[in-house]
Amino acid sequence: MDELVALCKRRGFIFQSNEIYGGLQGLYDYGPLGVELKNNLKQAWWKDLVFDRDDVEGLDASILTKPDVLKFSGHEDTFTDPLVDCKDCNSRWRADQLKSNKCPSCGSKNLTDPRPFNLMFKTSVGPVEDNNSFAYLRPETAQNIFTNFKNVIDSTSKQLPFGIAQIGKAFRNEITPRNFVFRVREFEQMELEFFVTPGTDDQWHETWVNSRLNWWDQQGVSKDNLELYRVPENELAHYSKATVDIMYKFPHGLEELEGIANRTDFDLGSHSKNQADLNLQSNVLENNESNARLAVQDPETKKWIVPYVIEPSAGVDRGVLAVLNEAYNVEELSDGKTRTVLNLKPHLAPIKAAVIPLKKNNSELVNIASNIKKDLQRLRLGRILLENSGNIGKSYRRHDEIGTPLCITVDFETLEDNSITIRDRDTMQQKRIAISELSKFLEDLIIN
Ligand code: GAP
Repeated sequence: MDELVALCKRRGFIFQSNEIYGGLQGLYDYGPLGVELKNNLKQAWWKDLVFDRDDVEGLDASILTKPDVLKFSGHEDTFTDPLVDCKDCNSRWRADQLKSNKCPSCGSKNLTDPRPFNLMFKTSVGPVEDNNSFAYLRPETAQNIFTNFKNVIDSTSKQLPFGIAQIGKAFRNEITPRNFVFRVREFEQMELEFFVTPGTDDQWHETWVNSRLNWWDQQGVSKDNLELYRVPENELAHYSKATVDIMYKFPHGLEELEGIANRTDFDLGSHSKNQADLNLQSNVLENNESNARLAVQDPETKKWIVPYVIEPSAGVDRGVLAVLNEAYNVEELSDGKTRTVLNLKPHLAPIKAAVIPLKKNNSELVNIASNIKKDLQRLRLGRILLENSGNIGKSYRRHDEIGTPLCITVDFETLEDNSITIRDRDTMQQKRIAISELSKFLEDLIIN
């Protein structure tokens, strides 16, 4: 983990947030390369779940959330972790993460009894700060998918089964943020709520578990390093009938990367005005002030059905960490030296190709390189970089370390025959091709 953290800082993937003022625990900022990698991972998810399907619609809802929503979702009462205080050094810990019931800071066993600590952040909305003006920062993106259920149905005429996908920030006041971006207080989630007819939910649950496992594998997070964990009944969240976690071998241990829950009709039922004609199957919370009936009508029987929902919920930041960890390699070279390389899947690489003139500031070479950059950039495959450093060896090493799949060198032969040298990141093999072949070559590399 330390090597990865150092690389992330050195090369501009991830920085500690508010660093120049000493940092703020549990917050990280994504730098010039990190933002590209993160966006590419989110795009890959969106493409797979929204663009490639016709049964999923997208949503981008607000982060500030009315307390009612999180009251009737059950979060106000149950979204807690057990907090203990060390009576000797006054530090605070999560009781379920302590080893041998000892304070990790001073080793004392003189701890308070655990008490529930609600993880939701509160803020106030508007100029008057009182008990009626507060709102929460959402602790999961899921809730405003449920509250927009009727809007999406009414505007798209979707029928079961169908899903609503959202990527966005979530906030949790974690007691002990730790392990780099693994457990943080501000993070992003990629969540799908897939609504199905009750009775078909178990089958859909299995389908989504398999689909998500395959997706992570396609992002370079090998199935060899992933495990499924069927969450035992006594550990299930309040809304869940069954949850399968996709666990990844992070540098600090086997931990959850994504959870896939069968949330039944709990949320839609809880947010629906209690209507006699809703045949709710789960124990939803008491009646509320909502004005909606979050249900669909069976076209044949005309009965109102509150769909069950299967929820694949993945953390973007944990995804970035897993992808980086899988891609990070230090290789022994034949000359006894080593090279650090990020073998990222090309579609995730922050920079798709670097165009390098052999001689720095040589106007003829730089002009050609600049035109190549413009032409390749027009393909909209991602960022293409013109690297006018004049030091090919150094550029190759830098681009290996940041995962650029292709380096393109413009040299004096280019002036004569319009050919360039391309170098493959993984094999380090070089070959000459015509400039006219480059676009197709790059497209094949990035898209396949
Ligand atoms: N809507 C369901 C839900 O939020 P969760 O298991 O609490 O379920 C889903 O969170 C995913 O969000 C996790 O699998 C993890 O990847 C990510 N996540 C949760 N808490 C996080 C945190 N404090 N820091 C980073 N990622 C987190």
